Formats: sequence, structure tokens, C-alpha cells
Amino acid sequence: MRCKIDYQAPSDLLEGRVILVTGAGDGIGRAAALACAARGATLILLGRTIAKLEKVYDEIEASGGPQPAIFPLNLEGATLKDYHDMAETLEAEFGRLDGLLHNAGLLGRITPFEQYNPELWDQVMQVNINGPIWMTQALLPLLKASEDASLVFTSSSVGRQGRAYWGAYSVSKFATEGFMEGLADELEHLGNVRANSLNPGATRTRMRKTAYPAEDPSLLRTPEEIMPTYLWLLGPDSQGHNGLAFDAQPPRE
Ligand SMILES: NC(=O)c1ccc[n+]([C@@H]2O[C@H](COP(=O)([O-])OP(=O)(O)OC[C@H]3O[C@@H](n4cnc5c(N)ncnc54)[C@H](OP(=O)(O)O)[C@@H]3O)[C@@H](O)[C@H]2O)c1
Repeated sequence: MRCKIDYQAPSDLLEGRVILVTGAGDGIGRAAALACAARGATLILLGRTIAKLEKVYDEIEASGGPQPAIFPLNLEGATLKDYHDMAETLEAEFGRLDGLLHNAGLLGRITPFEQYNPELWDQVMQVNINGPIWMTQALLPLLKASEDASLVFTSSSVGRQGRAYWGAYSVSKFATEGFMEGLADELEHLGNVRANSLNPGATRTRMRKTAYPAEDPSLLRTPEEIMPTYLWLLGPDSQGHNGLAFDAQPPRE
């Protein structure tokens, strides 16, 4: 297992870096955006609920972090044009991208496959894998323009070992791992863009509560507690690591 939970991120770790976080308004994405801004990064906060993104924006401003940008986008309906427009805007504003955390995710339903609704299956695949793939394609020129760019794909335990009833969510996370590995192999010769996957592990968020309604959330790590591996992967200390699967926390007993 590759896990950096004991990593101590210096306060200037991400100074001067431009980092885009998807699903930045809530849960793990929100914590990642705040943690990156606290280490000096300029954040692009992407998500579908503007009010949540504005709250994160305000928190970053109030804590004295670099002024972030909000990018409202619903990955479910996003088109290739949306991704290319986004790349154009970022190109004009920043000229490069140093970090891309694909975090936004949809759980779908935990249900026997025989009862899985095909429309819901498509929605989950759209948000969890198709959207991130085409967003990545549009943003690759900006990542290549960085001196040191890190792409992080959010995975899951069920993206590494199949589990009954996890349907499209599990398949989308397996696809995420596969896509990351192929892309990382393509990027290897560049030397300045790396791609890895990260499984947050059981974390106290709305998605986890939906998946495990009877679980006591106080027994779970908070999003803030799992940030060390995120920061390590997005910062220069992970240079040279490419195409690997990481865990943000050790497996629970
Ligand atoms: N929590 C865990 O235990 C756990 C374990 C393994 C993997 N993960 C993965 O970690 C990532 C974050 O999950 P989380 O637990 O923080 O979940 P969460 O609290 O439900 O947050 C998910 C985020 O994704 C955004 N999102 C969902 N659908 C979207 C769409 N169509 N377009 C744009 N943004 C969208 C949400 O936006 P809104 O707030 O606007 O809905 C929210 O900001 C996911 O990829 C998840 O699969 C989580």
C-alpha cells in the first residue's frame, strides 16, 4: 500500500501553483481545496452547486489564501465544448495548470445488478469517468505547459476489488484506474506531468453516509484528516511517481 498519511506538508508547499479541484464545494473536494489554498496554491473551484463553491471561495479569502476562481460545471451534462471553453479561459487567465484533482463523484445506487437502472448507470459513468476523461484531454496542453504538473484521479476500494451491489460506481472506479495507468504511461517520457490514483478510504462525508446509513460517522476519519497524501501527490515531493495507485489512509482494522 502506498500511503502518506504521516506526511507533513510545509505551509509554502504549493506556492505559485494553479490547481483545479472538481467537486470542490463539499466533502473531500472542499477539504482538498482549503488545504491546497492554505499551502499557497491558487485554486480553481469546479462544481455544480454555486452556493457551495462560493462558501469555499469565501473561506479561502477569509484565511488569506490566494484569490481562487469559481468554475460552475455539472459534469453530467458537460459537453466537449464546455471542456474546451474551460481550457481557453484557464489558458487566458493562467497560461498553465499545475494540478488537477478529479474528485467529483456520484455514488448511484447500491443494488443488485439485475435491478440497476440503465439511466442511472449512464449518469454515474458520465460524472465519474467520461467527464474526467474529456476534461483531462482538454486540459492536457495546460498541464504540459507546467514545469511540474500532477494529475490525481480519485479511486475507491471498489475500484481495486469488485464488490457485490456496487454496480456502476465500482465499474467507473476500475475504469478510472485503467485510464490513469494508460495515460501515465503515455506521459512518462515528458517528465513534467505525472498521473496517479488515490483511494480516500472510508471518510466522513455525505456520500459515505448515503452508502452506509447505519454506520457511526464518528468512527471515520474526516476529510481534513486524510489530506496529507493529497498534498504530497499535488506537490513537488511526489515528483518521479507516475502511474501508481495510492491510499489516503491505511485500511481499517
Ligand atoms: N467518502 C468516502 O468514504 C469515499 C471513499 C472512497 C472514494 N470516495 C470518492 O471521493 C470523492 C469525493 O467523495 P465525497 O465522499 O467527498 O462525496 P460528496 O461529499 O458526495 O462530494 C461529492 C462532490 O462531487 C460533486 N459532484 C457530484 N456530482 C457532480 C456533477 N454532476 N458535477 C459536478 N460535481 C459533482 C458534489 O457536488 P454537490 O455538492 O454540488 O453535489 C460534491 O462536491 C468521490 O470521487 C468519491 O467517489 C469517497
